[in-house]
Amino acid sequence: MSALRIGVCGNGTVGGGTIELLRNQAALLSARSGRELVLTRIGARRDRDDCPALDVPVHRDLLEVAHAEDVDVLVESIGGTSLAKELVETALRSGKSVVTANKALVAEHGNELLALAEECNQSLLCEAAVAGGVPILKALRDGMAANSVSELSGIINGTGNFILTEMGAHQRSFDDVLTEAQALGYAEADPTFDVEGIDAAHKLSILAAMAFATPLNFPAVFCEGISAVTPADIQFADELGYRIKHLGIAKQHADGVELRVHPTLLPKDALLASVDGVLNAVRLQGDAAGETVYSGAGAGRFPTASAVVADLVDLARADTKPLHCLGVPVAKLEPQPILPMDAVSCAWYLRLEAEDRPGVMSQLASCLGAEGISIEALIQKPPKGAASTVPVVVLTNAAREDALRRAVSAIAALPGIDQPHCIRIESPN
Ligand code: HSE
Repeated sequence: MSALRIGVCGNGTVGGGTIELLRNQAALLSARSGRELVLTRIGARRDRDDCPALDVPVHRDLLEVAHAEDVDVLVESIGGTSLAKELVETALRSGKSVVTANKALVAEHGNELLALAEECNQSLLCEAAVAGGVPILKALRDGMAANSVSELSGIINGTGNFILTEMGAHQRSFDDVLTEAQALGYAEADPTFDVEGIDAAHKLSILAAMAFATPLNFPAVFCEGISAVTPADIQFADELGYRIKHLGIAKQHADGVELRVHPTLLPKDALLASVDGVLNAVRLQGDAAGETVYSGAGAGRFPTASAVVADLVDLARADTKPLHCLGVPVAKLEPQPILPMDAVSCAWYLRLEAEDRPGVMSQLASCLGAEGISIEALIQKPPKGAASTVPVVVLTNAAREDALRRAVSAIAALPGIDQPHCIRIESPN
């Protein structure tokens, strides 16, 4: 079979890693694919020291790679959603398949781009877009093909996990750890995408589309970041037997789908609770396989390039047969209602400062009781020095989000109690 000819656009962390992997693993890739994988073009808007110089043409105009006669597959690793979208559309329309690591592009424009790929009889694959080196999309699409997946949850942003882990383990400040994550190449160009949960929401929308065979629906994902989590929260959670993780959660219900990203207290013995640092992990609940967990490096040069190159190997093996990224043609995806957060039920962690005087606790308990919310555990620390307030932490039983919000408003309106800081609790079965 003739060689698969590859044009890589973008020579940063992911593109540079892909170029290096194609060069360093050439013999292995050829043995595994039954044909050679050959880099024929590079599209790079500027040179970078960390990208190997190879004897292939380098184009400053990336669209030239999308039109090049000697490219069968274009790798899009430039990021962003404007030029990247134009590049992907141009490549597909020029009869090339596309491999992308760009979760924002897939989450925001995937329905349209996948339809275009089918129309052009090409493939659009994106394993690297979710959980870096962890082959979670292949696991969902292929390995779990015999299962109806009822829920999935995952640590799908390495930067956020790195920050929470370091804050908890070494009492380091949020800003200090974020700076290190950026230097290590984990963080997005705009790190608010990591810390405010947008990156995780992009990835969750891709996972949910594949798990539930439904169109991508990024705008419907409820999204809360980690910037309000404090070292005190991590410490209190630890005392109560929990770890705080930033989770993406998708659940299939009879009347629709739950899609949410937020900081979450997890019991210490939950499988995801001990996944630390930049590691990602995704837990699937399938009706035949039961619970399965997939874990590994969720960001970084070679883990992400590993996923890009695995897609290239799939395309090399498939030859000219188009592959469906979500497992089925887009016309077969069934739109589903997304459940409003008000209807979502979970247990809660509340942390607040309260005046140290008789009656405060009973008022707090009354506000929760009035909404039918029961207290599961409570910690009150003695006042520090001459402080007139004390920190209080309450764990509740499961409550609907709308009931909890009403109770929290009532608590915040009490004299001597400030606005509680609330974090959801998830207790996997
Ligand atoms: N910024 C992302 C993360 C990179 O930290 O997980 C991988 O998508």
